[in-house]
Amino acid sequence: MHNIQKISNDLIYVGVSDRRLALFENVYPVPQGVSYNSYVLLDEKTALLDTADASVANQFFENLQAALGGRSLDYLIVNHMEPDHAALIPQLVAMYPEVEIIATAKAGQMMEQFFGRPMGRLTSVKEGDSLSLGRHQLTFTLAPMVHWPEVMMTYDSTDRVLFSADAFGTFGALGGNLYADEVDFEHQWLDEARRYYANIVGKYGVQVQNVLKKASALELKMVCPLHGPVWRQRIDWIVGKYDTWSRYEAEEQAVVVVYGSIYGHTESAAMRLATMLAERGVKDIKAYDASHTHVSTLVAECFRASHIVLASSTYNNGIFPPIETLLADLKAHAWQRRKVALIENGSWAPQSGKLMRAELEQMKDITLLGEMVSLKSALAPQQEAELETLAKAIVESLGK
Ligand code: FEO
Repeated sequence: MHNIQKISNDLIYVGVSDRRLALFENVYPVPQGVSYNSYVLLDEKTALLDTADASVANQFFENLQAALGGRSLDYLIVNHMEPDHAALIPQLVAMYPEVEIIATAKAGQMMEQFFGRPMGRLTSVKEGDSLSLGRHQLTFTLAPMVHWPEVMMTYDSTDRVLFSADAFGTFGALGGNLYADEVDFEHQWLDEARRYYANIVGKYGVQVQNVLKKASALELKMVCPLHGPVWRQRIDWIVGKYDTWSRYEAEEQAVVVVYGSIYGHTESAAMRLATMLAERGVKDIKAYDASHTHVSTLVAECFRASHIVLASSTYNNGIFPPIETLLADLKAHAWQRRKVALIENGSWAPQSGKLMRAELEQMKDITLLGEMVSLKSALAPQQEAELETLAKAIVESLGK
């Protein structure tokens, strides 16, 4: 049975949510699922904006046929070629052989790469090119590296709707409510939106800034992303979040403690420090065991908070692997502009502190706070004072 939602008289949501997927991109856990958004515009001509993931093909095509109501499909607009949106293009072209595909030249190349042959009738578009469907006038704007190089966005200047590709998307399946203003986005979705942004697009802050500049010139009544709810209210709010994230600015003046601990001694010191911070009035401290928290969550938390405490055991003369993975991921996502305090541990030759510092020095605008606390096996009673000094340095830096 089809499951479509009417956004306006001539704009129909035909996307599908997936709650069975364990790992998005075979990397990121999606415990709340994910939606693959897709939209149909009905006008003198008909247009489909992006297809969907292969896993939801049956529901997607039922939705598409229901939305078209027996009409043929004139245009497929491909905003993004990642297979979670483009995998169904060959099937679509087989069903609608006359369809004209509108995409960037790079997207056209990718179609050949992915599908081993050109896809039907392809028209390549460039920045500022437009297409009239009748009443709806569409303009295409390039958004390279948000999240792939071929990405474009489509702006419907008739109804002031931006089809924003991956931008402004989030992890999380839709539960019937299509619009962000119909859910408690700030409390129930924002963490997943941040995790999606930081891990999927976070590396490309400069390119996101470029797109935000272009978007600021547009009047926006609605933003239709490829994942997650549609925005028709508080568009400035989510644009503001993207602005903060893509500038690599901290979203909150807050402390996140991440520890990698083998037998609990490093954890104990890290949590002692967290308690000292709390005793000095720091609120909403978040602490994570890196061995028990997916690195994508840790990356997102490091995008959220201004101050990060990293505590790591020494392991094989190196950094404890989960912390090493986090640092590699932060570097890969161009994480920057943060304050970091370090705790290391090592029973005979503590090395992790020096190595963590070396990783952090390769990132931009990372300020190390206070003196690193170096443990030998466990926090020695006389080292409480060192932790107190580190806590003081963090609190001062927070401006408390
Ligand atoms: Fe949702 Fe970059 O694809």
